[in-house]
Amino acid sequence: MSEREREIWNRRYSEPGFRMGDGPKRFLVELAELLPGRGAVLDLGCGEGQNLVWLAGRGLVGTGVDVSVVGLNKAAALSEAMEIDLELIEADLDVWDPGGRQFQVVLCSHVLLRELVPKMRRAVAPGGLLLMENMMVGAPIPLRYVVETQEMLHWFLGFRILHYREITRDGIPVAQLAARRPG
Ligand SMILES: C[S@@+](CC[C@H](N)C(=O)[O-])C[C@H]1O[C@@H](n2cnc3c(N)ncnc32)[C@H](O)[C@@H]1O
Repeated sequence: MSEREREIWNRRYSEPGFRMGDGPKRFLVELAELLPGRGAVLDLGCGEGQNLVWLAGRGLVGTGVDVSVVGLNKAAALSEAMEIDLELIEADLDVWDPGGRQFQVVLCSHVLLRELVPKMRRAVAPGGLLLMENMMVGAPIPLRYVVETQEMLHWFLGFRILHYREITRDGIPVAQLAARRPG
């Protein structure tokens, strides 16, 4: 990621309140029944931490990675207020690598980094869950941040698809995926 993009996210998160909404993303809540009751969750591009705090509140041990220190500071404050422990890592996902670490749940919500897909696949523990939502072609954002129809399904060939939907939410086309790594 360029320094300019990092600054843009830091500036966005510097505004009062939660830029990405007060609570977890709706698709996460709607797919809650797929979540394990315990284990580790990795949130890639966790931003202000709403999704991660919600997941940790459900019994998962949370790790979040984001390039924005301002977003991460908000995530830290939110987790402290909720008395939840999180591991927060400031890093550029273009270069960050989970190494050998694996997680029962890997979440990637509205962070479209195609080069990250192989790392994401590796980071899901055998039998673990991948959760993803992205805007689709037709959304009012630059084309490189939107997925094509069925694109996310191709990224996770070999995983068992538990949920896949292309819907319009609040006027914005989005694709949602929940997939289980075999094992
Ligand atoms: C649209 S927000 C989504 C935040 C959160 N996942 C959610 O669903 O509300 C995108 C987030 O991805 C982060 N991000 C984008 N590119 C990144 C990169 N290369 N490395 C780390 N974080 C990145 C941004 O800082 C921002 O917090």
